[in-house]
Amino acid sequence: MLDFKEIIAEKISKITQLDINELKNYIEIPPNKDMGDYSFPCFKLAKTLRKAPQIIAEELKSQLSVDENIEKIEIVNGYLNFYINRISMTRSVLEEFEKKQELFGSNDSGDGKTVLVEFSSPNIAKPFHIGHLRTTVIGAALNNIYKYLGYNTVRLNHLGDYGTQFGKMIEGYKKWGNEYNLDENPIEQLMDIYVRINELCKEDENVLDACRNNFKMLEEGDSYCVELWNKFKDLSLKEFCKTYDLLGIEFDSLNGEAFYSDKMQEVIDILNTHGVLVESEGAKIVDLEDKKLGVCMIEKSNGSTTYATRDLAAILYRARTYNFDKCLYVVAYEQNLHFKQVFEVAKNLPIPEKCKNGLEHVSYGMIRLSTGKMSTREGTVVKVNELLQEAIDRVLKVIKEKDPNMENKEEEAKKIGIGAVIYNNLCSTIIKDQVFDWDTALNFNGETGPYIQYVYVRTKSVLEKAGYLPKFEEVNINILQDDASQSVINSLYNFESVLMNVVQKNDPSFLSRYLIELAQNYSNFYNENKIIDDNKDIQNARVYLTYATGKVLKIGAGLLGIEMPNRM
Ligand code: ARG
Repeated sequence: MLDFKEIIAEKISKITQLDINELKNYIEIPPNKDMGDYSFPCFKLAKTLRKAPQIIAEELKSQLSVDENIEKIEIVNGYLNFYINRISMTRSVLEEFEKKQELFGSNDSGDGKTVLVEFSSPNIAKPFHIGHLRTTVIGAALNNIYKYLGYNTVRLNHLGDYGTQFGKMIEGYKKWGNEYNLDENPIEQLMDIYVRINELCKEDENVLDACRNNFKMLEEGDSYCVELWNKFKDLSLKEFCKTYDLLGIEFDSLNGEAFYSDKMQEVIDILNTHGVLVESEGAKIVDLEDKKLGVCMIEKSNGSTTYATRDLAAILYRARTYNFDKCLYVVAYEQNLHFKQVFEVAKNLPIPEKCKNGLEHVSYGMIRLSTGKMSTREGTVVKVNELLQEAIDRVLKVIKEKDPNMENKEEEAKKIGIGAVIYNNLCSTIIKDQVFDWDTALNFNGETGPYIQYVYVRTKSVLEKAGYLPKFEEVNINILQDDASQSVINSLYNFESVLMNVVQKNDPSFLSRYLIELAQNYSNFYNENKIIDDNKDIQNARVYLTYATGKVLKIGAGLLGIEMPNRM
């Protein structure tokens, strides 16, 4: 595909002798089409060239010439606006699409680089809440998109399976295990045991001691304690897997915190040797006050290790195992400080510089429900499986009312319901808090997953109606020169750069918003143009554009984890 930004940058570089890439980075997309397709802000060169932007613009313009790609150049307030030749743009996009088809938008920019995406990471014996749903959805999307751009990716689930609470769980189970049937709703039951034992600990110091002792025995590998811990872990994982199955998500590694329990001493020794570990009130810490990051606790005064130390051990292990270029932590913003501290301390680890520089916290905002309806007794924890199931049920109900003859209703309802929830998690910049509201998420006409699916299904029915797919050679590009067709072409052209933006910012919402724009542009094209037409020339071109749009909607949604229904 022609890179128009590059073409423009090259032209300007020839005149100014400035670096093409630098110039390319300055090029903007104007807020509206009347101002052209690309815009070069001349003030960026004012300092280097020691001239006023308006003068630079005039001088550049007088030396730039239009050609088969650039049809017009205009000066507006010190900006040079470039109008791309529509034929050239259309041909470039459709040729590329014809060549790449299912792989349109992909590239090999990530070749040879390894990205670890750590996401989801729920805690054993605790509910999988909607915060975990958000990291799961964001992480899976990031993983897919990196992969599509040629990176070698590894999906890590850093399970919370370690900590003193397991000593308590074991004690509670020893006492009351026979009262519970853990095969049914295991997480609720385990939570119940946990609440009960906590109450008892408050009343009775001896019970608390027993719990501590259990944890110690667990760490030392006592077979009974380990067996119970494994049981809790298996039961919890089984529950979590129900969610992962619904979302269609898999992991390459489920090494949780406990996996690092025998790998922490090395970290402590390294920090000691580096002279950064200091004693403070019996605990061992790394003082990060000079970086305004407080202190990072490495070992508590009672000798037990910490969450941060396990993360440091994980970095060491991951660098050795994967020699990664990037390691992304998709974790809510409450842990901002934690990751800043851990990444700072990790500078002391004997790992390649590229690994140290590749550590990145992909911080995301909270998700809240607009109604309290699905809350459990505590009033805050929402069970994700119930939420997903409710989404499916709501869609199924609508289908039964509106389209009772639809085939595979359950299957289609699942794709739409889950798609709606996934999209809702990704619809705006991930760092922002997000409200989950049923009517908004399931609105077929809003900026939603179902809307994208709906437009996709429309492209499919257009193709069915046409009954054939025109050969690329039969497509007359001149037919697609109207504004509505061009908006679709433009969107298709931008697909790859949107994906590149996602990995640059680690925010899949660039893609979610893009898909809405593409769907809207297609709807507009559909409304303004007769696709099935007596004139075969017209029909071929429009059917082909419909085909390409459907494909890109499907590829893009697939990258976000959203499947396309067959009918809607
Ligand atoms: N289990 C933690 C939680 O639910 C998230 C773990 C994040 N990852 C990490 N490497 N610390 O809050």
